[in-house]
Amino acid sequence: MSLPVEEIAPVPLSAVLRQGTRDAHAGANSEQFIEELLSGALTRDAHADLTAQLLVVYEALEEASAALGSDDRGAGLVFAELTRVPAIERDLAFLYGPEWRDKIRILPATRAYADHVREVGGSLPQYAAHSYTRYLGDLSGGQIVKRMMKEHYGLGEEGLAFYTFPDIPKVKVFKDAYREALDELDLDDDEVAATLAETHLAFTLNRAVFTELAEIHC
Ligand code: HEM
Repeated sequence: MSLPVEEIAPVPLSAVLRQGTRDAHAGANSEQFIEELLSGALTRDAHADLTAQLLVVYEALEEASAALGSDDRGAGLVFAELTRVPAIERDLAFLYGPEWRDKIRILPATRAYADHVREVGGSLPQYAAHSYTRYLGDLSGGQIVKRMMKEHYGLGEEGLAFYTFPDIPKVKVFKDAYREALDELDLDDDEVAATLAETHLAFTLNRAVFTELAEIHC
């Protein structure tokens, strides 16, 4: 009798998350706001509004990164080259002008998302879920978004710094290293389950932001 393969070699966390969120990813991808933004049906304002929402989410996420950077297990998942807040601030200054802080509007779903990240981001499984959902997404679909924003809304590099990782010369190599870091977190079974559940929640929180953006822009 042969053992199921997972009893011989446990499925790595990166594979659990990738396989476990395939449907959630397809759902996020086909949100009306995303589809219309990527097809060029919206305006530069929609891109600016999305960027403003990202600021608040990344402020919360990167506060958690700073705290986990000194955690024994968590430190391996914190990469300085992923830091996005300064790039988002530059984009907002370009998109809204120097008074951008007074001009941006943060949506209720965005506040809820950021509040949640602040609440749970100090725990490694939850942090890993939010870090994975955003950063691997930015390094993957984010690169497609960048191309489409240039093509449809006449943007150059300015206004798209969020999607540019100057300290990551080879995205694929970095993504593999990030997945390895996930796999080396040494989470127990309950923590792996908690990470997967939280990743689903992270996709849901992102979709809620897209729904509110669609109400305004679509
Ligand atoms: C804007 C439309 C989107 C497109 C076109 C897109 C496209 C892609 C593509 C092509 C990959 C595969 C990359 C690879 O195999 O290396 C990917 C991966 C990923 N995307 Fe998206 N995506 C989009 C939206 C999103 C959203 C909204 C999220 C979550 C907020 C997200 C999260 C992820 C994650 C976490 C991965 C990594 C999967 C893994 O390898 O484990 N994506 N995306």
